[in-house]
Amino acid sequence: MHTLVVKVTGDTLSFNNDLLKCASIIKNGGIGAFPTETVYGLGANALNESAVNKIFIAKGRPSDNPLIVHISNLNMLHDCVTHVDQNAKALIDAFWPGPLTIVFNKHCSIPNITSGGLSTIGIRFPSNNTALELITLCDCPIAAPSANISGKPSPTRLSHVEFDLMNKVDFIIDGEKSLYGLESTIIDCSKTVPTLLRPGSITVSMIEKVIEHIDIDPSLINLTCSKPLAPGMKYKHYSPIAKVILFTSSTSLLKEANNYIKRNVSIAIITENSLQYSSLNVLVLNINNGKNLYHNFRKCDFLKLNVILVEQPTNSPDNLAIINRLSKSADSII
Ligand code: TXA
Ligand code: MG
Repeated sequence: MHTLVVKVTGDTLSFNNDLLKCASIIKNGGIGAFPTETVYGLGANALNESAVNKIFIAKGRPSDNPLIVHISNLNMLHDCVTHVDQNAKALIDAFWPGPLTIVFNKHCSIPNITSGGLSTIGIRFPSNNTALELITLCDCPIAAPSANISGKPSPTRLSHVEFDLMNKVDFIIDGEKSLYGLESTIIDCSKTVPTLLRPGSITVSMIEKVIEHIDIDPSLINLTCSKPLAPGMKYKHYSPIAKVILFTSSTSLLKEANNYIKRNVSIAIITENSLQYSSLNVLVLNINNGKNLYHNFRKCDFLKLNVILVEQPTNSPDNLAIINRLSKSADSII
């Protein structure tokens, strides 16, 4: 399959011929990758079963893993869901457009393949202009998981999408590098008490300023015990080819780094405190609040490094998203 790669810039995106071409590909049942403020997405018309099926094939994604549906106005929301309760309304007012996905009971117009067989559907109203214009030009809700091969780190730059999906999708839109670099926060509002299913840049404390109380999926707190409520969170995820070892103390990381160096194993260190490791003659990369995490993972693979030693940031509520992604990508935690 030939993949069309287009760069769209400027304020008058709706008149951009390349973007019109991409929208017409989606309208005709094709699939393509586009930038969002979180990570790049791989989109198809959410209402077209055979188009959505192409996403699962291109990514190698398990069919029980539901897709998030992207919208560019609130009329589209009402076509996709049965009911918007007070909590959801408050979240929409506070955080849309932006990096928050809300799970609702699904309208029957959304095919089961899109929701992975569930009776609920995750909806996201992104803030990235290119994403919004594309959805508006398509004039339909767009189902879009992250635009990576299943299990690999989500893409935050054009080069990541090209590496994973070139010649497997109809188009790739070149945008800026992703603003947040981690996937959206997911909150399930189909239950009486809203529940956090995936932490992200919209933190629990931000959410609790808007609605009184939310539950947190126990699997986000106790990493080994319970089965996650979001089907996709049960899989090993976000993983580079290199082995990832997560450390909760810098002393044990330093010890392990020296062991690997002695054995001539090629390593990198990912940390918030680069200076601490400057005496070691290895690549030291900064997490930068999660923004560069996936890029750094991919960089280590590009350099064919064997092991990535990651120093876990402080265990605070605001670091829940980054710690969640690190523990999902790690082969072991020390
Ligand atoms: O930031 C994002 O959300 C990006 C961009 C492209 O928008 N998308 C993204 O999609 O991260 P994906 O498919 O890589 O992750 C979606 C996650 C999966 O863990 C999936 O199981 C969960 O959302 N999910 C989707 N619909 C759900 C539902 N109805 N109930 C529970 N979990 C759901
Ligand atoms: Mg994903």
